[in-house]
Amino acid sequence: MSKVIAICNQKGGVGKTTTTFNLGAALALKFDKKVLLVDLDPQANLSEYLGFVDADNKPTMTQLITEVASKAMVSAEIVKSCIRYNELNNLYYLPADINLANAETVMSTALARETILKRILSDSVMEDFDYVLIDCLPSLGILLINALTAASGMIIPVQTQKFAMDGLQALNSLYYQIRATINPTLTLIGVLPTMVDNTIVSKTALRKLSDEYNNLFRTVIHKSVEAAKSTESGNALCKMKNRLGDEYTELSEEIICLSKQGTSKS
Ligand SMILES: Nc1ncnc2c1ncn2[C@@H]1O[C@H](COP(=O)(O)OP(=O)(O)O)[C@@H](O)[C@H]1O
Ligand SMILES: [Mg+2]
Repeated sequence: MSKVIAICNQKGGVGKTTTTFNLGAALALKFDKKVLLVDLDPQANLSEYLGFVDADNKPTMTQLITEVASKAMVSAEIVKSCIRYNELNNLYYLPADINLANAETVMSTALARETILKRILSDSVMEDFDYVLIDCLPSLGILLINALTAASGMIIPVQTQKFAMDGLQALNSLYYQIRATINPTLTLIGVLPTMVDNTIVSKTALRKLSDEYNNLFRTVIHKSVEAAKSTESGNALCKMKNRLGDEYTELSEEIICLSKQGTSKS
């Protein structure tokens, strides 16, 4: 069974997209896993990093979501035909585009609106993949609820800065509500400290996170310009010799271990 992991935090700029891209690539390139990345952010940064050009005339997540919201179903064959391939990093992906923001409006009145993404990512689509990573948008709205309904686990990247913990309570509360209702088996795989550096602010934030969460990943992601360089070039960090590449490889190893145990870090 494939592991469907939502990378989420309703704060922007904490490293969600960078983590989705680089974790996915490390799983694929270092551990030979077949990985599907799902872009669920209308900003579509992940799709851009993967070299998506909006002129291939095939549906993106926007059309798939709109279709399911209005007709209740979309066949696995159609979904499979929408999966693109990024050769540079051996990654499969379902792209987003700016119109995904409009799809949110269509979703808000649809029947069983929380399960739209789950119906797109049906078992016969998922069985082709070892891991499916969903890059979430910075909001607690219906798209995030869809991601957490479709997922078996979530990873929360947290930037180790002054207001790092702000908003985490609201996300935790949503997590417990979803577990109590539509997705009882959802787990918090782990909290991932990102952009760690040697400043007192960063060290304090890291200490607070480890006091608060017993499911912090062992791996932390340091701050480095390599992050932006890699996404600009479309080449994942693990392809290059650098600290961040090693860290994302370690993170993917941790996740594979946790998947084998079938548990979260808690
Ligand atoms: N470890 C890191 N060190 C330095 N900059 C980073 C790191 N991870 C991400 N960034 C940069 O921070 C910005 C926000 O990252 P991004 O992954 O897009 O966050 P989000 O998806 O949560 O909005 C981007 O410009 C990215 O290049
Ligand atoms: Mg993002």
